[in-house]
Amino acid sequence: MRQAASPGDFRQLARRRLPRFLFEYIDGGSYAETTLARNISDLAQIALRQRVLANVADIDLSTTILGQKLAMPIALAPIGLAGMNARRGESQAARAATTAGIPFCLSTVSVCPLDEVSAAASAPLWFQLYMVRDRGFVRDLLAAAREAACATLVFTVDMPVPGSRYRDYRSGLAGAPGLGGKLRRLWQGASHPRWAWDVGLRGRPHHLGNVVPVLGGHTGLEDFFAWMRDNFDPSATWRDLDFIRANWSGPLIIKGILDVEDARAAAGIGADGIVVSNHGGRQLDGVLSTAAALPPIAEAMGDDIAVLADGGVRSGLDVVRMLALGAKGVLLGRAWAYALGAAGEAGVTRLLAFIRAEMEIAMALTGCTRIADIGRDVIAAR
Ligand SMILES: Cc1cc2nc3c(=O)[nH]c(=O)nc-3n(C[C@H](O)[C@H](O)[C@H](O)COP(=O)(O)O)c2cc1C
Repeated sequence: MRQAASPGDFRQLARRRLPRFLFEYIDGGSYAETTLARNISDLAQIALRQRVLANVADIDLSTTILGQKLAMPIALAPIGLAGMNARRGESQAARAATTAGIPFCLSTVSVCPLDEVSAAASAPLWFQLYMVRDRGFVRDLLAAAREAACATLVFTVDMPVPGSRYRDYRSGLAGAPGLGGKLRRLWQGASHPRWAWDVGLRGRPHHLGNVVPVLGGHTGLEDFFAWMRDNFDPSATWRDLDFIRANWSGPLIIKGILDVEDARAAAGIGADGIVVSNHGGRQLDGVLSTAAALPPIAEAMGDDIAVLADGGVRSGLDVVRMLALGAKGVLLGRAWAYALGAAGEAGVTRLLAFIRAEMEIAMALTGCTRIADIGRDVIAAR
């Protein structure tokens, strides 16, 4: 962990510490990974406009998103199976988010169940929902999220079917049913003894905490992927938002919007916010980067709903770039998953401290002292 001197260092540390199938699962995207690469490169190409002598002695990163006061305009994105990156991983990351004063968003397909994570985090959680065919199960999940005092529901809509992630086939995580895949994963785990002891043995059970009631005792990774394939509901439409609204009265964010028309539809059905996202380049490869998709959406939405964004954000500078492109808040995805894999809660805490420091410096050097100051005029004309 001491080797991490920048937010980008956690990726290599995680690569060393995690079994290959887990690292590739986090790191990879779909098909040729064009969109995954674009998310990063399009963001990196945004040049900021340096300003001077602007009295930047007092910089304040705090903001309010959907009524929740945040120490900085960041939330930890939902990451399925993150509990495998460190022992009871989602609970560790939720504690780090609490320390940093930002929300942690728990995935439907987390290892740690809602009640465990909400007990670990003293700040209100966000809960991410996938639409599954069994609406009774969805209703129960939403009830569990309410009971766990979740502040906000994040409804992910960009996964009617899972994108093909070829790295998962190569690593043995997917596509090798039966003993083959299991043996490869066992071998990869055994060759990372620190992880095998800390997570593989002491971190059990590893089944999907929120889904286990419907998995009927089948709790292996293959069972999980088969359940996703068979139960995610590709027939969902905007009309299903009525069902969600009937079962969730708190703030509602729709995640996975990449098109202005869909953003308008989300606002039209009364969503409180959206996340401009392509699922980190893990769904339809070849779609726009979020840095490219965000500006017209932010412009069309104005202040009607909270426009958040994610995809390719690896540093505090990237957060500032996303804000300058029009986001009111930014979700960190792989960045925190790598930090968790590298060093658990301490890793995520350190990552967030790096990001905070980078944002403060970027704001000082662009002449911004408040988050609301960061707008399109912070981007340099080429
Ligand atoms: C390993 C992994 C698992 C993910 N699992 C989920 C999930 O369960 N639910 C969800 O809405 N998004 C999920 N996502 C997408 C993230 O929430 C987020 O949109 C994406 O990671 C942002 O891109 P970035 O990783 O480049 O920051 C996952 C992403 C990764 C990398």
